[in-house]
Amino acid sequence: MLRNVMIVLWVTATLLVAGGFAELAKARKSPGDGSDRMGFNYGGKPKVDAPPVPKDDKEKQALAALAEMAKGKWYLNITTREGRVLRQLVETTGAKRIVEIGTSSGYSTIWLAMGARAVGGKVFTHEIDPEKIKIARANFKKAGVDDLITIIKGDAHETVKQHKDKGQIDAVFLDAEKKGYVDYLAQLLPLVRPGGLILGHDMHPPMPDPRYIEAITKNPDLDTSFIMMESFGISMTVKKR
Ligand SMILES: C[S@@+](CC[C@H](N)C(=O)[O-])C[C@H]1O[C@@H](n2cnc3c(N)ncnc32)[C@H](O)[C@@H]1O
Repeated sequence: MLRNVMIVLWVTATLLVAGGFAELAKARKSPGDGSDRMGFNYGGKPKVDAPPVPKDDKEKQALAALAEMAKGKWYLNITTREGRVLRQLVETTGAKRIVEIGTSSGYSTIWLAMGARAVGGKVFTHEIDPEKIKIARANFKKAGVDDLITIIKGDAHETVKQHKDKGQIDAVFLDAEKKGYVDYLAQLLPLVRPGGLILGHDMHPPMPDPRYIEAITKNPDLDTSFIMMESFGISMTVKKR
């Protein structure tokens, strides 16, 4: 009898523990934007957002290319929700000169370019990997945004120097190696216009470099909010006027 009671208790406890782990796993896989924590499974349904509705043929072409990319291989790209927010930030701030560090296959660049097109802007995107540059170039063509984007090849720690004396930068998006953010910020901040934006991807632990967090939160010339932290997380920093 006692043996049977022990078995029932043991089975119940095992089921409860397994259920708890299943719930945890589900929570980790549901940042609420249709992608899981690692950015896979873009095909999932967003819980809140409705899909973007194209205004014209150009936007339709760009959105179609983005949808195709999201279904294909993952190149450490941002999520769809993050892309939409990038585009919205660029468009609402009227950012004309946008610098991105870390192009990869160009998913985030296309979102930035959509915002840039609305305000007569351009995106300068830096990438070190020649294979990814090839893929990105083809994607920009497919999306119909290649005329809005300049790809700058090479180590961005060196190539960002090209932005000196080329006019003020309105928005920066950092999405290359995380340990590099501090140097990118140090080099680009003097070139960002007052009122300009510096956005940093992967602010969700454990990715951010504490030195970068310190640099954007302790400097009295800057004001930073952390947004979309339920997913990869973006730091949104304004260079005060
Ligand atoms: C996270 S991926 C960028 C994803 C892209 N922003 C998107 O969401 O579609 C990071 C990219 O940064 C590039 N990268 C890493 N270190 C770099 C460096 N020092 N200079 C330029 N690009 C670099 C990598 O090759 C990689 O393609």
